[in-house]
Amino acid sequence: MRRYVIAGNWKMNMTPAKAQALIAEMKPLVAGKDNCDVVLCVPAIDIPAAIEAAKGSNIKIGAENVHFKASGAYTGEISAEMLVEAGVEYVVIGHSERRQYFGETDQTVNLRTLAALNAGLKAIVCVGETLEQRELGYTETLLKFQTKMALTNVTAEQMKNVIIAYEPVWAIGTGVTATADQADEGNGYVRAAVAEMFGAEIAEQTIVQYGGSMNDKNAAELLSKENVDGGLIGGASLKSAAFSAIVDAAQ
Ligand code: PGA
Repeated sequence: MRRYVIAGNWKMNMTPAKAQALIAEMKPLVAGKDNCDVVLCVPAIDIPAAIEAAKGSNIKIGAENVHFKASGAYTGEISAEMLVEAGVEYVVIGHSERRQYFGETDQTVNLRTLAALNAGLKAIVCVGETLEQRELGYTETLLKFQTKMALTNVTAEQMKNVIIAYEPVWAIGTGVTATADQADEGNGYVRAAVAEMFGAEIAEQTIVQYGGSMNDKNAAELLSKENVDGGLIGGASLKSAAFSAIVDAAQ
């Protein structure tokens, strides 16, 4: 019933020229893979080049962040309206790297989510526990709390534009992937939090991705799990063969 969403997160990689070249490589490899949505979330400066390169393909372009105010004195920031006008359809919000290095909090994640949804963007909201929190036994508490904070004041109607990515911080960029069972369990906690807020039916329809060292080797097993509806993929989204193999795994 839920559709897979395979989304790349390029982070601070790829210039506009490199973005164009990589997308040109990926286009034929993911063409016709209609069992999932294929998304590439790219650095803001790459967005026009990426949108141009993806034209006429099934690749959709996303941003990696959005500001929560409509406009104003926020030097260096980018508004939801700007992203929409550029042709962006998705935006990553609350990635652990933004929480760790750029002062992102559960409250600003919520505000950014609302700004994105109100502008008609699809929000890919990231949640995830650190290794210390996992070892202390707080994974479920933390994932439910982060999920509920992020979705505060989101309407039931807007939930169809919400994707939640469970990304255990200890698995991001480390090569240590969560086991398929750990991913399924974490995603299940996220879905349970959505159910507590919006009811079982909306929870059943909400797409919950797994992210953290997902690659062409482990994607099929992760995606076979009941609660894993796709992936948010960092390192492996910078290589056309690896990324398209993950898209294949979702077919
Ligand atoms: P990774 O990154 O696939 O390189 O671990 C995932 C992410 O941070 O979204």
